This record gives sequence, structure tokens and C-alpha cells, in this order.
Amino acid sequence: MTSQKFCTCRPGATVWLTGLPSAGKTTIARELAGRLRAEGSRVEVLDGDEMRSSLSAGLGFSRAERETHVQRIGLVAEVLARNGVIALVPVIAPYADSRAAVRQRHASSATAYVEVHVATPVDVCRTRDVKGLYARQAAGEISGLTGVDDPYQIPENPDLRIETHRQTAAQSATALHTALKERGLA
Ligand SMILES: Nc1ncnc2c1ncn2[C@@H]1O[C@H](COP(=O)(O)OP(=O)(O)OP(=O)(O)O)[C@@H](O)[C@H]1O
Ligand SMILES: [Mg+2]
Repeated sequence: MTSQKFCTCRPGATVWLTGLPSAGKTTIARELAGRLRAEGSRVEVLDGDEMRSSLSAGLGFSRAERETHVQRIGLVAEVLARNGVIALVPVIAPYADSRAAVRQRHASSATAYVEVHVATPVDVCRTRDVKGLYARQAAGEISGLTGVDDPYQIPENPDLRIETHRQTAAQSATALHTALKERGLA
């Protein structure tokens, strides 16, 4: 009789970080990923920008395309999380119904899902302007910038809200790390 070994370590989870451009989603995800890996967790970061040149290559920024982008990433995250990986997902996901659909996908497979609102005010994001998008929008070079001239529907009931304008990136990562530990996910 052969015996199969199954991983009895921690369950996986999807941790979706939603928020405006330059809010701090990627920074927190990468900081936390390093910490979780150091603790022995299996972690993947599904970053919105990176996915746009691979999984979502060719997609634009219309409402329908943003929805497709989010649902594709939600599917990949759920498959990873269902198989014991912590999927950290720093993706804007501006529409509440898109986020709800991803949450529902996880609920359908009883896979842990944590919605984090990286709640940085737009004026702070505009000052940070990591990619120069706010400046380009102000100069009329681009349009459809989330939170400025494209919608961002604020999460009404996230599992965690992080106010990055009141703390360092390390502190924000710690807040999320603590929330995952409290849920038995890290
Ligand atoms: N508490 C904090 N948490 C996260 N980032 C912070 C914090 N305080 C300051 N920052 C800075 O804010 C910037 C956030 O940029 P980042 O690329 O992480 O944003 P983003 O939300 O991923 O944006 P985008 O949607 O454009 O990818 C970084 O320069 C980071 O150092
Ligand atoms: Mg980012």
C-alpha cells in the first residue's frame, strides 16, 4: 500500500490589496511577501502591472476590460490559494461588483479571501505619483486615471483598511501580517 503525503501546513489564502494608483499596494505586498517567505510560507505576488503584460496582455482600461483583468487574476489567485499558496494581489480593482465576484469565487471553494483597502487619500497618492500618472493626467496626456477621471468605488466593508499616510510601509506590512496571523493564515 502506498501512502501519499499531503501538506498539512497552513491553508492558502488570497489577500487582495485594492486602492488608488500609488496608494502603496505593491510596496506592502512585496514587503509582506518577503516576511512570509522567511517564515516558510509559499507566496506568490500577482501584481496588476505585471499581469497586464502577461495574463492580461492586450487588455485596456475600459470598465469591461478592467473587469476581465480582475476576474482573470481572481481565478489564478483562487487556484493558488486553494492549493496552499498565499496569493498576494496588489491590483487596483476599482469596481465593487468585480471584487464581490472574486470573493464569491473563493467562497465557492471555501478558500480564504481577505480584502484589504489600501486607503491612501488621492491627494497623498498624487504627491507620491510613483509612475507619473497623476502628472500626465493633469497635463492632459492621459485620461481614465482611477480616482481622478475614472471611478474608484471605495470598499464599504473590507477585512482590513490600511491608512498608509499615517505610517511607514513597514508598519503597514506589519498590520497586514498581524491580521493574517489572527485569521490563522500566516
Ligand atoms: N505606509 C506605506 N505603505 C506603503 N507604501 C508607502 C507607505 N508610505 C509611503 N509609501 C510609498 O508610497 C509609494 C507606493 O507605491 P506603490 O507602487 O506601492 O503603489 P501602488 O498602490 O502599487 O500603485 P499602482 O496602482 O500604480 O501600482 C511607494 O513609494 C512607497 O514607498
Ligand atoms: Mg502597484
